[in-house]
Amino acid sequence: MPHRSHPTFDVAVVGGGIIGLAVAWRAQQRGLSTLLLERDAQVAQRATHAAAGMLAPVSEAHVAERELLALGLASAARYPDFVAELEQATPLPAGFLRCGTLAVARDRDEAEALDRERVARAEMGLALERLLPSEARRREPGLAPTLRLALEAPDDHAVDPRTLAAALADAFQRAGGVLRTGAAVANLTSSADKVTGVELEDRDQLLAEHVVVAAGAWTPRLGGIPDAARVPVRPVKGQILRLRDPAGPGLITRVLRMDPGYLVPRGDGRYVLGATMEDRGFETDVTAGGVFELLRDATELVPGISELVLEELEAGLRPGTPDNAPALGRGALDGLHWAAGHFRNGILLAPVTADLLLASLTGEPLGELAAPFAPDRFTETDTTKEIAA
Ligand code: GLY
Repeated sequence: MPHRSHPTFDVAVVGGGIIGLAVAWRAQQRGLSTLLLERDAQVAQRATHAAAGMLAPVSEAHVAERELLALGLASAARYPDFVAELEQATPLPAGFLRCGTLAVARDRDEAEALDRERVARAEMGLALERLLPSEARRREPGLAPTLRLALEAPDDHAVDPRTLAAALADAFQRAGGVLRTGAAVANLTSSADKVTGVELEDRDQLLAEHVVVAAGAWTPRLGGIPDAARVPVRPVKGQILRLRDPAGPGLITRVLRMDPGYLVPRGDGRYVLGATMEDRGFETDVTAGGVFELLRDATELVPGISELVLEELEAGLRPGTPDNAPALGRGALDGLHWAAGHFRNGILLAPVTADLLLASLTGEPLGELAAPFAPDRFTETDTTKEIAA
């Protein structure tokens, strides 16, 4: 029994990053009394704080990951309405920038790889415009003359994740949602295979009919979930830089997708340059080598970067599952729902995740789009392996 008297919420969301915020806002807005629990003193201080905010399913997704690409396209298509609805619900801006994306190649190998990607995407009905260096540099004069090839994805835009998160937190609370920061969830609580709520590290117990796990890379630290009901999530470190042009906007106006990084303009002279991919557990040091590699590769393509002011260095932890795709929907306990493991795509996938989780919470079918992301796919694989062995 809880040792203090608390109301019973329809939904408790564990984790106040972009996914938890989007799910909580959607649930509260659609009439479910929702409690959002964030362990930090403010929301969105971890992966969301580090994220650049590329909304680039066409230029970023691997064509081999067709189901993830379809999910990304569905979420990107929702973004304009999602931010418009959000901006009706709060006076804060959502931070959406219609800028388009250029995928760029520096040498022949990269250009051949880009061409293969273009052909594969065209077969899927996704148009990427092939630009010779002169045309690419006419559109983006900040690009280096050494550029070999560029592909334009005019509908791949960007959003400022920190701005979006602040807007979501405000809209959630204006809708009547309860946000508790500094609230570290230790355990899910359950009785007879039915979720009853959560227990905080300070032993406070909170009651909820449904619990949504949106704890990002910290998902494995959540107790109270039987092993067979778990989604395996691991942290994947990304170092990322924030830069500012004292001369104002204009050096680059589109997102640049390079191999292996990206440069995302904010439209006001600020840029985000990312990101490394490192398996280093929960370590988040910014290293000289990481910063050097990001700047070396980016200045080769955009020499003007060397004139920018370096404002911030940060490392975040992406939540990766064994197949690097998210777990979305109902879990193995009654009342347990997963919105975890979004890996490189959390910002992009926030609107579609919010819609799918609302369906999950209200007992609606999630549909074909969500089928490949069922949370039980990891346990099913383990069973198959055991049978095969
Ligand atoms: N979405 C880009 C990254 O995770 O670095």
